[in-house]
Amino acid sequence: MPRKHKKIRFAWALTGSGHDLEECLEFLMGLEDVDVFLSRAVEEVLVMYKYTERLRRAKIRMFRDSTASAVPVGQFYENNYHTLVVAPATSNTVAKCVAGISDTLVTNVFAQAGKCQIPIIVYACDTKPVVITPAPGQMVTVYPREIDLECSRKIGEFESTTLTTNMDELKSAVLNRIKCLNESCS
Ligand SMILES: Cc1cc2nc3c(=O)[nH]c(=O)nc-3n(C[C@H](O)[C@H](O)[C@H](O)COP(=O)(O)O)c2cc1C
Repeated sequence: MPRKHKKIRFAWALTGSGHDLEECLEFLMGLEDVDVFLSRAVEEVLVMYKYTERLRRAKIRMFRDSTASAVPVGQFYENNYHTLVVAPATSNTVAKCVAGISDTLVTNVFAQAGKCQIPIIVYACDTKPVVITPAPGQMVTVYPREIDLECSRKIGEFESTTLTTNMDELKSAVLNRIKCLNESCS
């Protein structure tokens, strides 16, 4: 039986992907009750796209990947979150999660959310054979490999995990989750 959620907060993990990063930031900053977990790579990528200040101004609680044991995952054991969103999810983080590796803050929150039976929504960047994406200052076309596509498919097969493949699907999964929580809380 899934655990009953106690506290109404989203945990949102950002990874080092430029793909739809701005769109994810805009969307998450419009949500109430969200904590952000940053990968070390996204901290660099946020600077490259000049988004750091925008996120800082939003006054959202943020956890950085600065400890070997991923200390902030303790939040998940205290039932502080009803849902984990990993968006955008790099091919690196997706591959590690699929392999059961948890050696970064984001891969740890994915593993611990799973072990605590907390629903997860993942927006994997590499789900199509051709992706047109913004690099800092220019658009680029990349061709995800079969291994990237396979890992994206597999992450959607994890327990209580919803795979989304574009911003519309991500928004709709998050809004459905909020609706479901409101209905079960009322
Ligand atoms: C400007 C920039 C944009 C990037 N965009 C992507 C991306 O869209 N998808 C991806 O899988 N990796 C992307 N990367 C590479 C990741 O940041 C890199 O694989 C990193 O190790 C991922 O670490 P993380 O998964 O812990 O965040 C990008 C890197 C840079 C510098």
